[in-house]
Amino acid sequence: MDIIRVFGGHDLAGCVHVSGAKNSALKLMAATLLAPGVTTLENVPNISDVHVMGKVLKRMGATIEVRDEHTLVIDTSAVASWEAPYELVAKMRASTAVMGPLLGRFGKAKIAMPGGCNLGARKIDMHILGLEALGVSFDTDHGYIYASAENGLTGTTVTLEFASVGATENLIMAAVRAAGTTVIDNAAREPEIVDLANMLNEMGAKIEGAGTPVVTIEGVDELHPVAHRVIGDRIEAGTFIVAGALAAAEEGVEVAGFTPHHLGMVLKKLELMGVPIERIEDGVRVHRAQSLRPVDIQTLPFPGFPTDMQAQVMVLSALAHGSSVITENIFENRFMFASELQRMGANIRIESHHAIVHGVDHFSGAQVVSPDLRGGAALVVAGLVAEGETDVSAIHHIDRGYERFCDKLIGLGARVERVSVPDPTDD
Ligand code: EPU
Repeated sequence: MDIIRVFGGHDLAGCVHVSGAKNSALKLMAATLLAPGVTTLENVPNISDVHVMGKVLKRMGATIEVRDEHTLVIDTSAVASWEAPYELVAKMRASTAVMGPLLGRFGKAKIAMPGGCNLGARKIDMHILGLEALGVSFDTDHGYIYASAENGLTGTTVTLEFASVGATENLIMAAVRAAGTTVIDNAAREPEIVDLANMLNEMGAKIEGAGTPVVTIEGVDELHPVAHRVIGDRIEAGTFIVAGALAAAEEGVEVAGFTPHHLGMVLKKLELMGVPIERIEDGVRVHRAQSLRPVDIQTLPFPGFPTDMQAQVMVLSALAHGSSVITENIFENRFMFASELQRMGANIRIESHHAIVHGVDHFSGAQVVSPDLRGGAALVVAGLVAEGETDVSAIHHIDRGYERFCDKLIGLGARVERVSVPDPTDD
């Protein structure tokens, strides 16, 4: 099995360029189903989740050509299946993003029920309720959801109980082909949703208000393929910014290729902790914090503090002078990495969805297990400033969302390596 071995105590300097946003690219790939023909997506990250979404589209009959590693040329003209099979949905829940586009194009979809994941139960009831309001009927059988809009999709007003990213996206992608006008009230406002709406509008859709809580979609008869560039990954950027805040050399670390405004609340909280951050043209320059102050954080939908940055910022707070309270409001099971960080010397108490973090003066390198994507990346970042060696296992989680994570850290001067080791639990 592969692990990431981190040798702590090496300063970081130079510039790291982030890849395209995972959570944008996956939905943009799904949206290509709505426009029969050849769509070109640029700045697509080369990560395993993108490979899974590629397999989902290919199973349906699409062809995908990869150019220059980050450009996908996706031909959806011959798509003739509307099924997302269990083995792919089980690998990646975001495969359910094809439901809206399939309903928009074919009026039907057969999607494996996603089940839970290591972040918790992660229901899709809001996707289903919203699509039902547009005229879709649902049936479940043998672990599959059968969705069909026999009389077509009809625009209406849908009020989401919670500003769910995935439900907002699935509804937008179905509503672009519905008859009449759909209004999504309490829509999620994440930058990735704006990216999706921008591409759909380039394809001929009529979507207004993406990035606000009320999105209005006037259905159209057809969408045409386009070329579109994926926005930079704000969470990958945030992860490197935290690394810089902990370990940057005198001149700081430049993190480029994303829009700082997409990380507004994260940058504000880091500044409150005493991390010096300068905005530059397409990113930021971050300096090491001389002395870290504690911070209270609660995760919320955008523009609130993103759950996807909770683990990385907890690493910083674990080295702050004082106590921080970190509240996780989005996922029920996103503190699993905290017990791994404790193995490195952190002092964290979990009480329901609050983590009470008492700062310590150093971490000590240890063997730790990556519990999920962001928690895994956070453990590697903690290893950068830990005494001695940190071995992070189960790094397939990290590969899902960080392109060449080790190489990028090495480019900044970190001593990190990916090594194959025998599985210690094998006889
Ligand atoms: N929820 C429901 N019912 C629904 C939909 C959501 O109860 O029908 C609950 C979920 O269980 C969760 C909360 O609402 O507790 C938020 O879910 P949301 O739908 O907003 O999230 P998502 O679409 O499943 C996306 C990202 C996540 C990111 C969240 C929140 C993708 C592929 N995933 O998930 O990214 O954390 O939005 O911003 O876009 C990651 O990249 O590491 C990651 C987990």
